[in-house]
Amino acid sequence: MADFKHILATILSFFTNLFHRGATSTAPPADDIEAAASKGKDGTATPETAEAPSPTDEAPPAIKTLTAAEVFDSVGPAYEDAFTGLPTQAAAINWLVEQLKANPATASGGAKIVDVGCGTGRPACSVLADAGHDVLGIDISEAMLTAARTRVPKAKFELIDVRAFIEREKSNPDQLDAVTVFFSLIAGVTQDDIKAVLSGLAGLLKPGGFLVFSTVPIPVNNESIKWMGRPVVVSSLSPEEGVASVRAAGLEVKYDAVTKFKPRGAEVGICKPEEVWEESHLFVYAQKPVKASV
Ligand SMILES: C[S@@+](CC[C@H](N)C(=O)[O-])C[C@H]1O[C@@H](n2cnc3c(N)ncnc32)[C@H](O)[C@@H]1O
Repeated sequence: MADFKHILATILSFFTNLFHRGATSTAPPADDIEAAASKGKDGTATPETAEAPSPTDEAPPAIKTLTAAEVFDSVGPAYEDAFTGLPTQAAAINWLVEQLKANPATASGGAKIVDVGCGTGRPACSVLADAGHDVLGIDISEAMLTAARTRVPKAKFELIDVRAFIEREKSNPDQLDAVTVFFSLIAGVTQDDIKAVLSGLAGLLKPGGFLVFSTVPIPVNNESIKWMGRPVVVSSLSPEEGVASVRAAGLEVKYDAVTKFKPRGAEVGICKPEEVWEESHLFVYAQKPVKASV
C-alpha cells in the first residue's frame, strides 16, 4: 500500500511538474476544470434528480476523468516554460541530429520525421526543422497545436491521436527516417497501448531509421489520478519494461538512461515550491536494424 501511494504520489508529481509547464494565465483554475468535468459532454450540467438520496443511499461521488486532450487543452501552451532547456531532452534531440548528419541520405537535411505528442513544437520540432528536416508534429490538443503552428512555422502539424496515425499509415511502412516521443505516452493510454504504439512506430521507420523515446518510468496501468485538480487516467512502464518494449518493437537500443530533473514549476508560478520535487525520466535512443526484424 505504501508503494502504491508512493507510485501515485510520483505520478501526481510528474503531472504537476511536467504537464504544468506554465499553466499560468491560459489554464483555467482547477476548480473550473472539476466543475467542467461534472458537466455532460456538451458542457451542460447534469439535471438534478427529483429526490435527494437519503444519507444511507449516498455513494461516494464518482470522479469523472478528463480525456488527455481535455487536460492538455486546459493547461495550454504556456506549460513549456517549466521545462525549457531540459538538458536530457536537448541531448536526445542533438543525438538524433548527429545521427541524421552522419547518414549521407539525410546529411544535408530532408529527413522525414514525426514528433509524437509535439506539444508546443518546442524543442523537438523546432530544432529538427531548423536542421533542415521535414518535420510533422502530431498531437491531440488543439491548444498545443495552435501554439506550435505559430512558434514553429517551418514544421507541419496535425491534430491526430498517435494510435489513429499508426492505423492510417501502417499500409505504408518503412517511410520515416526518425520518430521522437517525448513524454506523450502517459495520459489516456494503457500499458498495452504504449507497447503497441512503440511497435507501430517502429514499423513506420525505414531500416536504419531512429526512435527517441522518453517517459516518466513508473509501472502503473490505467490509474486515475488528479493532476492539478484535473482527474485523468495514466499508464506508464518501469525503466526495464520501457527499454524492453523498445527492443520488442524490433529496434536496437543504442542508449538508455534514467535521469532526474526538478522542474521550475514554482519559479514560473505554476505551483507552490512544496509541490515541486525531482522526478525520474527514462530516455531511450534506438535504431531500426538495416535488416529489419519488425
Ligand atoms: C507532456 S506533453 C510533452 C510535449 C512535448 N513532447 C515536449 O516534450 O515538450 C505531452 C503531449 O502529448 C500529447 N498527447 C498525449 N496523448 C497523445 C496521443 N495519444 N496522441 C498524440 N498526442 C498525445 C499531449 O496533448 C501533449 O501535448
